[in-house]
Formats: sequence, C-alpha cells, structure tokens
Amino acid sequence: MKKQIITLLVACLMGGTLFAQPAWFDDKDLTLTGTYYYPEHWNEKQWERDFKQMHELGFEFTHFAEFAWAQLEPEEGKYDFAWLDKAVALAAKYQLKVIMCTSTATPPVWLSRKYPEILIKHEDGTILDHGARQHASFASPLYRELSYKMIEKLAQHYGNDPRIIGWQLDNEPAVQFDYNPAAETAFRQFLRDKYHNHIEELNDAWGTAFWSEVYSSFDEITLPKTAQMFMNHHQILDYRRFAAKQTNDFLNEQCLLIKKHARNQWVTTNYIPNYAEGHIGGSPDLDFASYTRYMVYGDNEGIGRRGYRVGNPLRIAFANDFFRPVKGFYGVMELQPGQVNWGSINPQPLPGAVRLWLWSVFAGGSDFTCTYRYRQPLYGTEQYHYGIVNTDGTTVTPGGREFEQFMKEIKQLRTLAKARDVKPDDYMARHTAILFNHENAWSIERQKQNHTWNTMAHVEKYYRALKSFGAPVDIINESKDLAQYPVVIAPAYQMADKALVDRWTEYVKQGGNLILTCRTAQKDRYGRLPEAPFGSMISKLTGDEIEFYDLLLPEEPGKYVIDGKEYTWNTWGEILKPSKECRSWGKYIEEFYEGKTAISTRKLGKGSITYVGIDSTDGSLEKDVLRKLYTELNIPVMELPYGVTMEYRNGLGIVLNYSDKPYSFTLPAGAKAVIGTTDIPTAGVLVFSIQK
Ligand code: GAL
Repeated sequence: MKKQIITLLVACLMGGTLFAQPAWFDDKDLTLTGTYYYPEHWNEKQWERDFKQMHELGFEFTHFAEFAWAQLEPEEGKYDFAWLDKAVALAAKYQLKVIMCTSTATPPVWLSRKYPEILIKHEDGTILDHGARQHASFASPLYRELSYKMIEKLAQHYGNDPRIIGWQLDNEPAVQFDYNPAAETAFRQFLRDKYHNHIEELNDAWGTAFWSEVYSSFDEITLPKTAQMFMNHHQILDYRRFAAKQTNDFLNEQCLLIKKHARNQWVTTNYIPNYAEGHIGGSPDLDFASYTRYMVYGDNEGIGRRGYRVGNPLRIAFANDFFRPVKGFYGVMELQPGQVNWGSINPQPLPGAVRLWLWSVFAGGSDFTCTYRYRQPLYGTEQYHYGIVNTDGTTVTPGGREFEQFMKEIKQLRTLAKARDVKPDDYMARHTAILFNHENAWSIERQKQNHTWNTMAHVEKYYRALKSFGAPVDIINESKDLAQYPVVIAPAYQMADKALVDRWTEYVKQGGNLILTCRTAQKDRYGRLPEAPFGSMISKLTGDEIEFYDLLLPEEPGKYVIDGKEYTWNTWGEILKPSKECRSWGKYIEEFYEGKTAISTRKLGKGSITYVGIDSTDGSLEKDVLRKLYTELNIPVMELPYGVTMEYRNGLGIVLNYSDKPYSFTLPAGAKAVIGTTDIPTAGVLVFSIQK
C-alpha cells in the first residue's frame, strides 16, 4: 500500500500518466521473462531436465495448456489434470511460475464429431474441420457452453494455486467472419437489440431506401456477403461490430468464470496486434491486454539491404503504445526467438536482433515478455519453428542465447530500478495521444475514393513523426480522458457525433492542443453523411469550411508548399476556406485551386486547434507540420533519425538502433550508460540511468 502511494506520488511529481502500479507486478522486478512449454508434446522423463535448463538460462515463468483440451478432457465430462499437476510441480521446483491457458482454440475430436454444428462456416460455404486449430464458432451457444464447462473445472483446480500467476484465454482470438447459422441468428438478435425491435429504425440507419434494400422484418436479414460488390456498407459496419462483439463476449465470459475461482491471478489474452480488427481491449473484465509479435518473416519492412533480418523499427513500439493504454500496463505473450515457419521466407534474424526486440518491448513499459516457444517441435505444422533450444532439446539456439543475455542484463539493472513513472520532464512535456477508433478504418477502407489511400498508413505518418521527436505516445480510444495529454491527434477520424465534437472543443478550450486531419467528422456513427455542408460537423471548432476535396493519380501527384518547401500528395486533399481567426499554413500549387490552403491553425480558449486536410506521399509534410506546431507551443522535441527510438521507464532511458548504420547518442546531462555504449551499432541497445 505504502509502495503504491509512493508510485502515485512519483507519477504526480513527474507529470506522468496516473496509473497505480498494478498489484501483480513489482517495479523492483522491472520485467519478467518466460517461455511457452507444451508438456504434452514431450516425453515426461524430459520435463525436469527442461525446466532445470529453463531456470538456469534465467527464465522466471513458463506457460502451459494452451492447446491441450484433448488431454485435459479426453472424453466429454471426464477430466484429467494429473499430468498438468505434475508439470506445474516440476516447474515450481525450479522457481518457474506458470501462466495457465484455456485451450479453446483446439476443441478435441469428440466435440467436433458429436456436435458438428459448432464448426465455423465460411462465406463460400466451406465448413472447417478437425485437424488444425481455431475451427470452432464463437457465436455457437453450444460451443460456448462446452468451453465454459472445461474452463470452470480448470479454474476450480488452479484458481487458488499460488504457483499460477495468471491466465491466457484462447489463442490469438480474432474476429471471426463466420457464416454458421448460429451467427446469423445472433446477428438478428444483435440488430433487434440495437434498433429497439423497430425495423424502421434499422432501415433508416442503413439507408435501405437506396436500391430497394428495404426490410420489413428482422428475420429477412442475413449476414452480409462481403465478397458481393456494392453490399450496403452501413450493414457491413454493423456486421463488423457484431462480429467483434462475439469474440469479446466469449473472452469476457471466460474471464468472469475464471475470476469466480481465481485468487490473486490476472486474466488476459494474447491478441495479434491487428489494430483495425476492432476487438482489442473490448472485453472489459480482462485485467490487461497482451500481444504477440513476430518481426522477421520475409517482408522487408526494415532499413537497408538486410533490414528484413531486423524488422520494422516501429512495429513493436506501436504495439506497446496501443496495448499499454488499454489498462495502463501490458505484457507480451509471444516474441519470436528465431526463425518462424509461416513467413513467405523465413530468414535468420540478424545477430543481436532478438535482444533488440526484447529491449523494444521493455522500452514501452511492459511487465513481462514470454517467448514462443522453448523447444523446436519435432512433428506437426510448426516443425521449422525455432525455439530457445533446438531439435535435440538441449542445445541453446542463437536467439536463446540472446534471451539469456537480456535476462542477465535485467537482473543486473534491478538494483537500480526506480518507480515506473520516473521519467524526465521534457519527455513528458511532449506526451501525445493519438485518438484511434477502428470503425473509422472499417468505414473509410470500404469507401476509399482513391485506391492508394491507406487509413493505417495515414495514422502511422503521425506516429512516425512523433517517434522521431522522442515523444511518448499513447494510442487511445474515446473512453480515455484527453485532458492528461498536452497534444491529441485524431487522424482521419471519419465517424463522429455532437458529443465527441463537444468533448474536443472543451479539451481545446481548457488548454489542450488538438490536431484533426483530413477525412475527420465527415459521417455520423452509422456511416451516413449529415444533411449539412460537407464536413461541417467540426467547422465551428476548426474555423474552416471545406470547399471541396480532390484526389489525384499516384503517377501525377500534386504539390503543396509550406515555408518554401514542397511536398507531394495524391491520396486525399481538402481545399479549405479558413475563417479570419485562423492562420493558414502553406498552399496548393500547380492546380486550378493554386494558392488555396489545406492547413489551418488557431487559438481557442486556452488551447489550440489545428486542421491538416491533406495526406502527403511520404509523411514529411505531417512531420514538418507537427514540428512547427510543437515549436510554437514551446514543446521540446528531439531529432532522431528513422530507425532510432528512445523511451524512458523506471528511471532508465532506452535507445534502440534498428537502422543499418551505427548511431551516436548524446547522453542527457547527468545520465550514465548502464548497458551498451553511446556508439550504438545496428541492432544495438543503449540503456542509461537518469539523475532523478
Ligand atoms: C502465433 C500463434 C502461436 C504459434 C506462433 C508461431 O501466431 O499464436 O500459437 O502458432 O504463431 O509463430
């Protein structure tokens, strides 16, 4: 309790985000590291040897039962936990705590044969079958019931066991676009509830007067065929909301069942960071959200000729900044230890890259990292997937050695650890939120107007600029309080309503600095255009009118000039008519609207509102506009090259180099390097302690 008060106090003093230290994790540990183990895959005689070596390498927890439903309930209603008890006891003998899983991603064959109605049906009619994983429908009430019976037994058995630290639900639960008849029934019910059993309300929301789409009863409604061109996109919007809710409800119900029996154990799941899928963070009773991340799988999103061995420099950073704000803390459930088996090409990571990713996860503030997996499998779909040890079960892989090094380094730093929110003032002064709602991406991507437009890429242009400034970023949803951030950016926030615009206005009047970008507040929450001038929902706030918008061919991009510097664009440009209180930044050239502007800014109350009605080709306009604004606002920014990032936590600064060149970092006054040197090689890491 005393400690919690101190943490809060420190957070206040440092101007940090006010999240109390979570009860399950201790700042003294900095972070914990663990690894997946599947006892059911291995000869029982090897378990002890494996846990001993796991412990000697430095792991502090392991992870069991993820896909073991067939072993846990070999016949309907007959449970066998004896083997798992033995594995838990042996792990404990080597000081390994356990994350327990609900194995709902892999129903046993008796279940699929006896109750085939639980199987997922694809839009083209294919029914999934036993023999892989993730083939059961979350919308099936029967599947849920059978899952809950198994989960409740597991929770009764392990919920009061101090060797179990927490629970992971399912595996990478995704939003299912499932055409199982149970999903159709549930969709109709979802619509009845949403539209108060009044079909006229639905007809109005979906604009069904268009093309004779009108319905006379909810029973006529089917799951929309997304493959069918021109399918009503208001309907698709509701279908996506419904589909995300199926996954979220299934997880939340699992979580509540476990919590009935669990003592001091957390519950989470391991989401794939598919941000626009729309379900992450949507199960309110989960204690926090964790993610899985793979960095090297054949795509070259890295820097330079061998960048594909290191990976995209912001891939982990964005996930950290998206998952942490969900509950204020997070963990990483799967981090690649070496080659994977499922990429287009599965190269070896660059020596040092695995450790770089571990430090990247740490830099975002995570409380733990778990790696998938300890042993390389000898059979099954993932035979070519690397582990911490290789196919002989004992030889440590290069990635395994990098985990070992990281765990040693963390243990060494524990003596220096300060409270998690000990961060420098100039860093916190540029704390920026990106307001994100996946529904905007759903809506825009369905009606792009320019096939070269990409909603996530638009958001990432702002994110990338912020990371080059060394700014801490929270990617948040509308449930969060905006007032805690000096700057909030809402990029391409297409669907809005009066309540949201009022909140934005209040935030600005009270001293916040809001940046809205093109395509914002142009539709209502059903995806309809208001009967008013285009984009006018925010014109009182921004002070602008939109005259029109233009979209260009990528091979014939347009030009925009700010302070004498030219930028190219083609995906979307709005032509604004700013009012007298606004200052405009830059103008279009070489078009019939030459001289007109896309960017305006003005003071309002104690704060400011900036509107950026254009999307540039390479993100340089977005970066320069942000820098200009932050300079006006006296917010100190850094100039880090792309590929280098810097974050703070626990009184430590962490600098990561994903670029193909060495980077020389200048330590802040009074800081001291504690891991690495200020000359940071490719895939290198520098950790320094700050004076505070
Ligand atoms: C993840 C999945 C794991 C494992 C891994 C292989 O997406 O959650 O169960 O299959 O991929 O890289």
